[in-house]
Amino acid sequence: MGHPQIGTTPNSRLISMPRLDYDYIIIGSGIAGLNTALLAREHGSTLIITKGRVDDCNTRYAQGGIAAAIGTGDTPTLHMQDTLSAGAGLCDRNAVEVLTSEGPQRIASLIQWGVPFDTMHGEISLGMEGAHSRPRILHAGGDATGQHIELALAARVAESDIKVLEFTLATRLVVEDGRAVAVETLNSETGETEAYSGRSIIIGAGGAGQLYKYTTNPEVATGDGVALGFRAGARVMDMEFYQFHPTALRLKGAPTFLLSEAMRGEGAVLRDRDGRAFMPDYHPLADLAPRDVVSRAIAREMEKAGEEAVYLDISHLPGSVVQSRFPTIYRFCKDHGLDITREPAPVAPAAHYMMGGIKIDTWGRTNVPGLYACGEAACSAVHGANRLASNSLLDTLVFARRLVSSSLGQAPEEEEPHDDSILIKRLPERAPVCATMPSPGLENLQDLTWRNAGINRNGSRLLLSARILNLWQRMMPAPDDRPSWELTNMVLLARLMVESALSRQESRGSHFREDFPEIRAEWEKHIVLTQEEVPA
Ligand code: SIN
Repeated sequence: MGHPQIGTTPNSRLISMPRLDYDYIIIGSGIAGLNTALLAREHGSTLIITKGRVDDCNTRYAQGGIAAAIGTGDTPTLHMQDTLSAGAGLCDRNAVEVLTSEGPQRIASLIQWGVPFDTMHGEISLGMEGAHSRPRILHAGGDATGQHIELALAARVAESDIKVLEFTLATRLVVEDGRAVAVETLNSETGETEAYSGRSIIIGAGGAGQLYKYTTNPEVATGDGVALGFRAGARVMDMEFYQFHPTALRLKGAPTFLLSEAMRGEGAVLRDRDGRAFMPDYHPLADLAPRDVVSRAIAREMEKAGEEAVYLDISHLPGSVVQSRFPTIYRFCKDHGLDITREPAPVAPAAHYMMGGIKIDTWGRTNVPGLYACGEAACSAVHGANRLASNSLLDTLVFARRLVSSSLGQAPEEEEPHDDSILIKRLPERAPVCATMPSPGLENLQDLTWRNAGINRNGSRLLLSARILNLWQRMMPAPDDRPSWELTNMVLLARLMVESALSRQESRGSHFREDFPEIRAEWEKHIVLTQEEVPA
């Protein structure tokens, strides 16, 4: 299908679109993007824009599986209660109800689409994870769930008439008369810029772990989708809530690598260097406490002992069970000289999942007509201040389906939820930093966020970071290739996160302020950021 050659530079304005190129344009090719595309193509021509290859995404690394109330003795209501309690008062109850009640049907669709969920005695096996009151986590290939789902969806996309543009970065959304009408792109291989018009534009490019020095996310996770939406006038919400996974491998010579929570679900225990199991000191659920509790406990133990890691021990289980249940983790550790069937693995927390994102309603709609969002790029407040383990794959599936229905005009007009939220209409101009300041760059950014906007935060470090980031935003040259666009996007996201974290003067869920260590009832509200003017 042809497309107009209008936008010649990444920042150029599209004056008018001569024709409609696609009914649906989907940005991102993780599970959120692929699943939405497969549903959308039944209703019109569909284009996927992805900055790498189709299978080069964040979700394929998801080890922990997908939660749904399909087991005997489990119900969507129980799943809802666990989700609400992990979310620490900030979940949108309606969104959680949708997630947990529609979840089982979406699992049935995945089975139809060929996802090979693990079974035992002919029944789907259900695992346990932190803060779940029932075993309800489905896995595929042991700890390779994300990869199996991604591959099944990618195979269906490849067989379909969906057009896929790889190595293409979405750089700007064109908004005309208040409606999102087109996407400007940069081909990172040829340097060419182009533009595609669409009736419905869907942002599914989530994941921003590269904001931090230590992350379980791959290199592509640079928060492009949220930055793109925010620049086009979409509201973003809950940006201060970033989940740190407690147990990422911290082994000399090995990259940061997720050791799934499912290991603790199977009985793995966190120990200090002397072998003492320390989690019972911190929470009645011990190793299966909510993630924020476990991450902070580990950080505390590391600080007390002056060490870089604590230890995750699964060596008491039979080696054959460990190998068959966690083949990817076992192999990865073995390749780096560690046999987890015999010795504990050194672990430390790492940035894992962004609860905040482009504010959507439960039908995937943003505040910009024609613009939708799904997956980790979106925020319906279904995860609140802290996501329940293995709820994110389900989130992408459930809300993508509703998004496509609403694009067809099949959703009710929903009243604006979260009307108790605080709206920050414009990021404040911060006074420049006088002392020596790190220069803008990926490593400096990752250091800054890790130190100042990580597991433990305080007002003075957040304020200093906001000033540095603001200065970087003013001094960075206009982006013109993939690395410079990614850095620009990450600096913007870090700024949104730091400004929100500075505003929230309490500790709740994944957001912990040393200067406001308690939860405060008056803060049971969302922080929403927007900008009224779209910058050039
Ligand atoms: C894990 O396997 O521990 C990660 C799964 C998730 O984040 O939901």
